Amino acid sequence: MQHKVLAGLDRKEAEVYRQLDPGRLPKHIAIIMDGNGRWAKRRHMPRVAGHRAGVAAVRSTVETAARIGIHAITLYAFSEENWKRPQSEIDFLMRLLSRYLKAEVPTLNKNNIRLEYIGRQHELPEDVQDRMEWARASTAHNTGTVLTLALNYSARSELVDAFRSMVNAASQNGGVEHLRIDEETVANHLYTRHLPDPDLVVRTSGEMRLSNFLLWQLAYAEIYVTSTLWPDFRGFHLLEAIAQYQKRERRYGGLNHGDAHAEPAKVLK
Ligand code: FPP
Repeated sequence: MQHKVLAGLDRKEAEVYRQLDPGRLPKHIAIIMDGNGRWAKRRHMPRVAGHRAGVAAVRSTVETAARIGIHAITLYAFSEENWKRPQSEIDFLMRLLSRYLKAEVPTLNKNNIRLEYIGRQHELPEDVQDRMEWARASTAHNTGTVLTLALNYSARSELVDAFRSMVNAASQNGGVEHLRIDEETVANHLYTRHLPDPDLVVRTSGEMRLSNFLLWQLAYAEIYVTSTLWPDFRGFHLLEAIAQYQKRERRYGGLNHGDAHAEPAKVLK
């Protein structure tokens, strides 16, 4: 199996992949793609040139994730806050997304990748919604990596929608007095109900923020921030992030293995 994976990677990727433990790969990786504007500015190009260059980064990252068998990858492609950008940039991003979906479906199918979306899809331009639906249906039969694009996404809106959806479901099932609220119920009403929580969240371009991305789901995720700007990010960088992730010990609020013997009373004496 590992041999087959290595054959699909380039030399630099293979070098990092050899250091990984294939049994401890993150199941779900979330990525905040940032730095397109700065990438363009450094080259004295318009901001949109950075977005265009960002497509190659998406392609490489998603392909590498699929090759090494990552179960799910979620990309923050357009936030609710992004509507505040100039209309010309918004229009460009919508066209870019549409074109990406049209061009990418054959490759997604070749790599057995299933496409999903999170966010308030119904508020996006209708032609974009149609293209999204077409791309989703065209990849629905795939059984490998789930690629979820966050479009018109806001984590707070997702929680608001989840609470509304819980109340709606309860009122159709015997009334709100039967509403049971616990973590499992909330999780089952989030846009991400088709996914496990991310184990790793990657943010490019050095900013140390979550920017309203998957606030509920990232509760226990490992955070990896790289100074690499998104258009320069490739599968190789994703593997580096996974290597860092594997060096960390995840404790979920518990203790490190072996530390349970350090009894507080004795330590205080
Ligand atoms: C953040 O960079 C990036 C975005 C708001 C858009 C992300 C879009 C892409 C990567 C294009 C392709 C995506 C798909 C799914 C086809 P920024 O503009 O905020 O950069 P800055 O912080 O340097 O200004």
